[in-house]
Amino acid sequence: MKAYRYILAAGLLGAATLAQAQVDQIEVWAAACANCHGTNGHAQPGMEALAGKDKDELLQKLLDYKSGRKPATLMHQISKGYSDDELRALAAYFAAQKK
Ligand code: HEC
Repeated sequence: MKAYRYILAAGLLGAATLAQAQVDQIEVWAAACANCHGTNGHAQPGMEALAGKDKDELLQKLLDYKSGRKPATLMHQISKGYSDDELRALAAYFAAQKK
């Protein structure tokens, strides 16, 4: 019975580590947006801020840039560098930042 508990604990620990690794990965992707959209999406005046915007709206814009449906100068190329799931994770990340 005791061994079972250890195995369970080890399993939970593994899941926590994996979740942390995913958060770290998203922060690395988000850092690639910081040059233009500011740290964690807090842009300088005159540039699109991403922090605290609606998650679905951000994702839709990113998918529309990727497909070319939405006009853009830079975001076509940038959005094509990410899978749809990665864009979804980025949209969720920026939506979760305080404005
Ligand atoms: C080199 C500068 C640059 C980088 C890097 C960049 N963007 Fe953009 N972004 C822009 C520009 C410029 C626009 C306005 C549309 C256009 O002309 O491409 C924009 C627009 C957007 C918009 C629409 C904002 C709105 O509310 O209309 C979103 C969402 C977005 N970018 C997300 C991202 C994400 C996510 C990343 C990182 C993966 C990123 N951008 C990296 C320059 C950049």
